[in-house]
Amino acid sequence: MPSDYCINVQRSEHGLHGTITVPGDKSISHRVAILGALANGSMHIENYLCSEDCLNTLRAMQQLGATVIPGDCPQNFTLTGTGMAPTAPERDIDCGNSGTGMRLMAGVLAALPFNSCLYGDESLQSRPMKRIIDPLSTMGAKLTACGKKAGCAPLKIEGGTLHPIRYELPMASAQVKSAVLLAGMLTEGTTSVHQPAITRDHTERLFTHFGIPCSVSDDGLDIAVTGPVRIKAADMVIPGDISSAAFWLVAASIVPGSEITLRHVGLNPTRDAIITVLRRMGANITITNRVDAGEPYGDITVRAAEKLTATTVQKEEIPNLIDEIPVLSIAAAFAEGTTVIRNAAELRVKESDRIATTAGNLRAMGAAVAEFPDGMEITGGKPLRGTTLESYGDHRIAMGFLMAGLAAEGETTLRNCHNINTSYPGFEHHLRELTR
Ligand code: S3P
Repeated sequence: MPSDYCINVQRSEHGLHGTITVPGDKSISHRVAILGALANGSMHIENYLCSEDCLNTLRAMQQLGATVIPGDCPQNFTLTGTGMAPTAPERDIDCGNSGTGMRLMAGVLAALPFNSCLYGDESLQSRPMKRIIDPLSTMGAKLTACGKKAGCAPLKIEGGTLHPIRYELPMASAQVKSAVLLAGMLTEGTTSVHQPAITRDHTERLFTHFGIPCSVSDDGLDIAVTGPVRIKAADMVIPGDISSAAFWLVAASIVPGSEITLRHVGLNPTRDAIITVLRRMGANITITNRVDAGEPYGDITVRAAEKLTATTVQKEEIPNLIDEIPVLSIAAAFAEGTTVIRNAAELRVKESDRIATTAGNLRAMGAAVAEFPDGMEITGGKPLRGTTLESYGDHRIAMGFLMAGLAAEGETTLRNCHNINTSYPGFEHHLRELTR
């Protein structure tokens, strides 16, 4: 797909209709590939996210000696791990656009007995890596950020034996937490982390799934793993990604006449604040067929909201919906009153500076937005106008503003949409299907 690939949408006159299954969860897919590659034995993986980000992680694991036998479709395959004996990669590892892939793999590679190098695209090579270099270096890891920008990738890793630490995370980041825990599981002794707020807990849940002993304090803020661990192969069905479902939750809420169902969406309580916040704003969201498995999931039906009202997103909700904030801001532009989103400075170091890119695009569509170093206040209620917008190579900005376009006057064009493939292959097909 060319990098200047554009997508246009018209205002949807009849609403969104239909039932779709969004692709597999991105965070879980990365972690399943990494843990599965170190496991003893083979496991059947179903509904792996075949997006550029997660395929890069899977290819990296194959470079370390894991094998993949294709199944009946690209999302399903058998992964055979290396039994904790991965081999040195022959080439540098391409992480593409994925901060998660790079930070998690850095945790593992730092504790393995060989050298490696992780690199990525221009956006990834401008994202901060010091946040993982600091704790991993305290564990004795030898990581060097050799990027043009200080503290950024490529990351050169001289792997070796580490020692356990207790780490206080300076920011609520599941990637940093996971990088330390993954290094910890390969290190003799108990490595523990304390997080300032609850962040997505897929690493902890997968530790349990793969038989890795891990303890979590009652308040969920302290997590410990004692290494070196043995990883038991275990089949895994990956639920749909709630971060991908979020686009349709908002679109169906703001476009009059809509009624859609999203099947088999992950409902992990550390990821579901988008549902809580949209409901608080007046969205009509129903969950059925809920299954409380290791990773809970269910079907979500959304009907157009009669009226949306502004809300204040609570500080502790922010890590639980960090990736959904661009699209939540669009719901806010259609809600009566001023929605307050603060304590979200982390948005500035995502695939784009998501405070600047969201606020800029909302203003270009005619919304009233005040920007702060750590968030935005969006005053909704005025109709938005379709226009041509930049997505800054950021998949969530592209998809979020296409949802705005479905409810705005006239036509909306999003430029530079190729990166949608990093998280949501088949997005355009779903867009056409639901708006047909
Ligand atoms: C992720 C954690 C979040 C999120 C990212 C995926 C993960 O980042 O934004 O898309 O899979 O651990 P931070 O942990 O840096 O907030």
